[in-house]
Amino acid sequence: MAQSTGFKKIKTAVFISGTGSNLQSLIKFSKLKKSPISIEMIISNNPKSKGLVFGKIYKIKKNILNFKKQIVAEKEILLKLKKNKINLICLAGFMKILSKNFILNFKGQILNIHPSLLPKYKGLNTHEKAIKNKDRYSGCTVHFVNSKLDSGKIIIQKKVKIRKNDTINSLAKKILAQEHKLYPKAILKIFSL
Ligand code: GRF
Repeated sequence: MAQSTGFKKIKTAVFISGTGSNLQSLIKFSKLKKSPISIEMIISNNPKSKGLVFGKIYKIKKNILNFKKQIVAEKEILLKLKKNKINLICLAGFMKILSKNFILNFKGQILNIHPSLLPKYKGLNTHEKAIKNKDRYSGCTVHFVNSKLDSGKIIIQKKVKIRKNDTINSLAKKILAQEHKLYPKAILKIFSL
């Protein structure tokens, strides 16, 4: 277990594309004494990401990168991550697929949160698929990132019941609320051993 005083927190970068509610929950978590991480950078492929506002609020460095030129963008990020001694990447609603080359060249761990009970429903529109298939449960998963989409080793999952009257939106809302708790839990699980 990491000690509550005198230990160096793991320098972390969070990658986002949109609202950044998972980013916010990770920032709040990182401020707790028991948290093994400190969030040093926010990276977005989308200059309009609402989540970028948290960089301003919490005074965290922001980087916006143009993924239309993915090879160039990834090279740039890798340099920045190295310069800032980042050892952990948390993907949180990041809508681009990182290249194999990036994953191999980043000297640290990469985590992702996904809104389904993997290996079910990799990729997009997970809530729609779960409802269409009349599943009784869906949920969320935190996993290590490897070069195959949503396929790395699972760290932790949370089941969420699908009610008869659930819509894509209501299910998304319920699952997102669980995601906010699950990501910190996954980080504690990995780094507190
Ligand atoms: C979350 O449901 C996440 O699992 C998915 O995209 C959503 C991002 O939400 N990949 P936010 O940007 O963290 O609010």
